Amino acid sequence: MPSSAATPFFHVLKTQQFDRALLDGMCELTTAVRRVAKTREGLTFLRGLLADKRAMLYFTQPSTRTFLSFNNACQLLGIQTSEIRDASTSSEIKGESLLDSLRTFSSYVDVIIMRTKEEGLAESAANLFDHIRRPVPVLNAGSGKDQHPTQALLDIYTLERSFRHRGGIDGKTIAMMGDLKRGRTVRSLSYLMKVYKDVNLVFIAPPAFKMEEDIKAHLREYGVAYTETEDMESVLPSLDGLYVTRIQDEYDQGGESSKVDLSRFKLGMEHLPRMRKDAVIMHPLPRRDEIHPDVDEDPRAKYWRQERNGMWMRAAILTKIFGVDGQIPRASGVDSMDD
Ligand code: NCD
Repeated sequence: MPSSAATPFFHVLKTQQFDRALLDGMCELTTAVRRVAKTREGLTFLRGLLADKRAMLYFTQPSTRTFLSFNNACQLLGIQTSEIRDASTSSEIKGESLLDSLRTFSSYVDVIIMRTKEEGLAESAANLFDHIRRPVPVLNAGSGKDQHPTQALLDIYTLERSFRHRGGIDGKTIAMMGDLKRGRTVRSLSYLMKVYKDVNLVFIAPPAFKMEEDIKAHLREYGVAYTETEDMESVLPSLDGLYVTRIQDEYDQGGESSKVDLSRFKLGMEHLPRMRKDAVIMHPLPRRDEIHPDVDEDPRAKYWRQERNGMWMRAAILTKIFGVDGQIPRASGVDSMDD
């Protein structure tokens, strides 16, 4: 096995690979990238950092934000990209196995960023690449219902920045609402909560979409407190963070989502007075009607910032993978960046 595979940042496959030091380091690095990108000189510097690298974006599941933010993160760092967004245009249609296709991409590029409906494919690709002559890092940009680790990292960054004058994520009460059963964002984020001190999780979902037992068992094993409810209104005043998600009906087997009453799992203007003044409202997007658009103007709504943070965090991840993170200048003195 190549020695590079032993570093936590050769591949990004699932959130369980991150500890507190890595997360704190990634948040600090993300802020540094954002700050450098504020000036023309900084942008020119960033564009030269990885100009010798090429990336493959293999996205065979629909994506807007994750694709665009990775693509723009690559452009920011000078990385050239090629892409496949539809498996029917690649040789899979000729009967090539997914792993053979991925191995082919690895012949041409320096990193593979992949979103697929198959769970575990990113890990299988990473295992394969660890054993070939030219190992290529794999970034999991969403693997079916299972994981979305780079989303979880940008969510952590958004939470940490939002709570930075209140001691960060430690000690906070954070609710996740919606389709917790099939939502890979909330699953990935839940795994990370154990690295923070005294976090209370509240899972708000209809019975059909409750958080799966594997995540709850993980939380119990690591002593992370969680409760489950169907009553958003009753828990709203206690929340520091509310992470709303949409129903993932693309995974329906027979229209089961349409039979679930979702009316109690939506956030509207009428709920905002019951929330803490310093609470944050997040959503990985895309949204349907689970957050009313009027909520967007409330300063607690952080989802548009969260979306933009995705580009900065993904750029930070790429610098880390290629070992140029140490070249990003750090600010001296007080952090004057926005949240
Ligand atoms: C999420 C996803 O793809 O899991 N979107 C994203 O990457 N921001 C959430 C979703 O599609 O509901």
